[in-house]
Amino acid sequence: MTARYPYVCVLVPEAQAELCSLELWELGAGGIEQRDARTLTAPEPASAGVVTLLAGFEDEPGAEAAARALSSRWEAHVTFVEGDDWRHAWKAYFKPTRVGERLVVRPSWEPYEAAPQELVITIDPGTAFGTGTHETTRLVLQQLEPLVEPGIEVLDVGCGSGILSIASVLLGAGRVRALDVDPDAVRIAAENAALAGLGDRIRASVDPIESIAGGVPLVLANIETRILVPLAKALMARVAPGGTLVLSGVLAPERERVLSAYARFELQETTAMGDWIALRLRAPGPEGTGG
Ligand SMILES: C[S@@+](CC[C@H](N)C(=O)[O-])C[C@H]1O[C@@H](n2cnc3c(N)ncnc32)[C@H](O)[C@@H]1O
Repeated sequence: MTARYPYVCVLVPEAQAELCSLELWELGAGGIEQRDARTLTAPEPASAGVVTLLAGFEDEPGAEAAARALSSRWEAHVTFVEGDDWRHAWKAYFKPTRVGERLVVRPSWEPYEAAPQELVITIDPGTAFGTGTHETTRLVLQQLEPLVEPGIEVLDVGCGSGILSIASVLLGAGRVRALDVDPDAVRIAAENAALAGLGDRIRASVDPIESIAGGVPLVLANIETRILVPLAKALMARVAPGGTLVLSGVLAPERERVLSAYARFELQETTAMGDWIALRLRAPGPEGTGG
């Protein structure tokens, strides 16, 4: 019998496609394809300025729940495709990608021959966010290279596929605590850490951030503004005096809102890619300088 797979089809103004994709990932999409008016195979005819997002889901209840969650803002419905081809088609777009000076992200199914100075992160994202191709992830990866000092401890909040944790260890971090509220993401992050042979250095869990005792010199959080803002106190409390906090998942117009929630920290750098920005913040020093 031919397999039948559910997917959510969303018609969305082009300017909101990134935001909608991010939400689809968080709602559990296993892969997302974007099609526009020029794409002949779009199941829904998109008009100019509107794109169709096709998001594959494991099962029908998951797809129905995602369509419901989006339907107040966009036209979203569930349809089905038969056969295996489409389900894996998104993998064709996930190719080995260089990020920053030395890091290369490679999907586990793509061979890659690394140059001597390259550090290769091998990822099978499964249903977790983090292929390294999304701007929010790339912004953090780019900031990471100069920040990871040998043996440093890192906290990766919202670890998704574990990509930032793995990159941190490859760059020299001693130990990484990786947290996510999604048990599937935690399982996938642990699998990716094991795949990289780094299972003993990366500890992934659904533990709440409050369970982390003491300050960590480097804290990474690629989540969304609507979560980063209420999480500000808890995140800042986990950064060691003089330590660094990198925030990503922030849209450019949300910058001031995020900065005011983190006003106790000093802004050191803002980097941008497409509509997204990442903020590098420094905790007040051990002597209490900087507020
Ligand atoms: C945008 S993805 C980032 C994944 C990966 N770190 C990357 O950079 O590609 C955000 C992740 O944060 C997780 N998340 C959302 N709210 C959270 C919270 N309050 N605490 C921890 N993780 C959270 C989501 O489940 C999701 O896996």
